[in-house]
Amino acid sequence: MADGSSDDAFDADSAILTVLTDRSVIPEPYGHYRDIREHAPIHKAAIGKMWIVSSYDEARAVLRDPRCGNPTPEAFEKGRTGIDGSTRRPRPRESLSMLSLNPPGHTRIRSLVSRAFTPRRVEEMRPIVEEIADELLHALDGGGDLVSGLAHPLPANVISAMVGVPSDDREQLRPLIADLTVGIEPTASAEEIDMADAAGSEIRRYLVDLIAERRENPGDDLLSVLIHANEDGDRLTENEIIVNTLLIYAAGFETTTHLIGNMFRAFVANPEQLARVRADRSLIPGAVEEVLRYDPPVQIDGRFVHEDIEMGGQAVPAGDSIITLIGAVNRDPAHFEDPDMFDITRVDTQVLSFGSGIHFCLGSALARLEGQVVLGKLLERYENWEIVGEPTWRPRITLRGVERMDVRLS
Ligand code: HEM
Repeated sequence: MADGSSDDAFDADSAILTVLTDRSVIPEPYGHYRDIREHAPIHKAAIGKMWIVSSYDEARAVLRDPRCGNPTPEAFEKGRTGIDGSTRRPRPRESLSMLSLNPPGHTRIRSLVSRAFTPRRVEEMRPIVEEIADELLHALDGGGDLVSGLAHPLPANVISAMVGVPSDDREQLRPLIADLTVGIEPTASAEEIDMADAAGSEIRRYLVDLIAERRENPGDDLLSVLIHANEDGDRLTENEIIVNTLLIYAAGFETTTHLIGNMFRAFVANPEQLARVRADRSLIPGAVEEVLRYDPPVQIDGRFVHEDIEMGGQAVPAGDSIITLIGAVNRDPAHFEDPDMFDITRVDTQVLSFGSGIHFCLGSALARLEGQVVLGKLLERYENWEIVGEPTWRPRITLRGVERMDVRLS
């Protein structure tokens, strides 16, 4: 509704619950998002102290508002109420990465970790990304499953190379990371959270050994940079290195897998856009931005309200939580012209796909680089791109994408 309130005739609670919990909606949530955005762009859920925002301006404002952030470490330790009313398991404060912290703790860690994500360091990854893409595409020649053949191993190998995980250990870590990321889903079951915790513990054990090895033999990798990062005498503790490496590893992995999968699907569904980028390779960076807008790999972000705020004319008290539906806000017609059209020549792509404000994605430059390299290589090598049969979707909405997609490339 234009004034930002909910339309009484529309059952926003059930529409929102459907989009967040009904796995049959995952392949095509955008019609549901449109209904929610049109009828209830800022909605206070009946369950819990939860708001759901699907309008661009309000979502961006909330993500950037210093009065909003993460729950306190004490609240994480107590356990919280999930979107479906269930209690989320308590998380000890030592397990919290920068993603779950507020200033000043967040500012300190982000500043030290940013030293490992300088534009120079990311640009230095370009030849490595190209080499990995070439090898994988060579093996995929003719076709096969794009996810296991390219979209998954590319970011996994890139982030492993960047962190400094030896090639021989990468296969063993891949399924663990996949299990770990399930923990962030709004409706993860107790078994899935157990699985995520077990995977986290195993990766942690692995990293303890790797850090010890890097202390002895520093390299030019992210782990060595984190071990030696120093700001006015302040250093990251061993635990801070571990939880934030885990975050970088997990965040840099499935997100980019889905960017690649979504990109392929978008171009196959829109052959005229594929022809345009084929004819003019200078459109590649804009094309990747448009994929990020049109079909964002991360569909849900959110904040906890620390001080009373006003959101689109409604009073939101401290203690409430806000979910921002990124997939919906990226198609808000108030911000994007013809939002349901995939148009790689858009100039208005200020997308919220990497979040906004102090938690803005630290790996956005790397993700963009990977997307651009893959698109360039696919264009270079193959005239015809086809999807064979129906892709299988991963049953997840926060990190949304396909887990298997058979393709023909010729
Ligand atoms: C297309 C790929 C990617 C997408 C869509 C994505 C999305 C996001 C989003 C939405 C956030 C903000 C979360 C919030 O507001 O609370 C975020 C944060 C973050 N991302 Fe990414 N990401 C991607 C790739 C990567 C990569 C490749 C890395 C690392 C190599 C990475 C590392 C991080 C980190 C460390 C944060 C936390 C920053 C902070 O809390 O200050 N991401 N990402």
